[in-house]
Amino acid sequence: MIFVKSEREIALMREPCAIVRDCLQFVGERIRAGMTTKEVDTLVYDFIKASGAEPSCLGYSGYPASACVSVNETVVHGIPDDRVIEEGDIVSVDLCAYKNGFHGDGARTFRIGKVSPEKDALVRVTEECFFKGIEGLKADSPLYDIGYRVQKHAEENGFSVIRAYTGHGIGREMHEDPAVPNVGKRGTGPRLKAGTVICIEPMIAAGGWRVAIKEDGWGAYMLDGKPSAHYENTLVIREDGVEILTL
Ligand code: MF3
Ligand code: CO
Repeated sequence: MIFVKSEREIALMREPCAIVRDCLQFVGERIRAGMTTKEVDTLVYDFIKASGAEPSCLGYSGYPASACVSVNETVVHGIPDDRVIEEGDIVSVDLCAYKNGFHGDGARTFRIGKVSPEKDALVRVTEECFFKGIEGLKADSPLYDIGYRVQKHAEENGFSVIRAYTGHGIGREMHEDPAVPNVGKRGTGPRLKAGTVICIEPMIAAGGWRVAIKEDGWGAYMLDGKPSAHYENTLVIREDGVEILTL
């Protein structure tokens, strides 16, 4: 069931979403070679707590951290640990904050120092895929138009779209209906209603799209070992466009 949020509910969502936005910026200003992924998680935990919010990921289905920190070929759900971030890595940081009874969710992929031209383009195209995804998006748009546009942009740039994970509705729960795939057929899917709040999160790979799960049961890595990137925002569908809450 796809919820439509009232203006009062959307107003309550602004705060957790702004905390996600600010936390991602805070991390982006501090993440560097030599830091462990666990240290990134600590930055996230402390920031969210200091903002008077709760890290939604911590304890979610047993997830043991506040952020997903996914390096290079790990695309999403990387559990922070003692891995040391190195010059030339690309690191995706995905986090959710819970406040006012609602969740906000966002992700960025950071370049660590000088990265290869391939990784540099991958990070750029992944961000572009998000903005392609929202192009023309408004009330009454067919849901799968988003994935159609994301996929088109990724593939035109020689990259592939990870199929195993999707975006999602968000609100009182971190994951609500609908699933928001990053591939799709134009003109299909349910029509979005004004007031629906969704996360659009392209996950794009430099090689093939097939993933496997690490022994920890969470970390998703590219089977061919090629780099992957992730970019996500929470947004509201409006009559005449979208309102992004985490930018
Ligand atoms: N932020 C992720 C998403 O976009 C959720 C991570 S799963 C968790 O859906 F277990 F870490 F919470
Ligand atoms: Co999400």
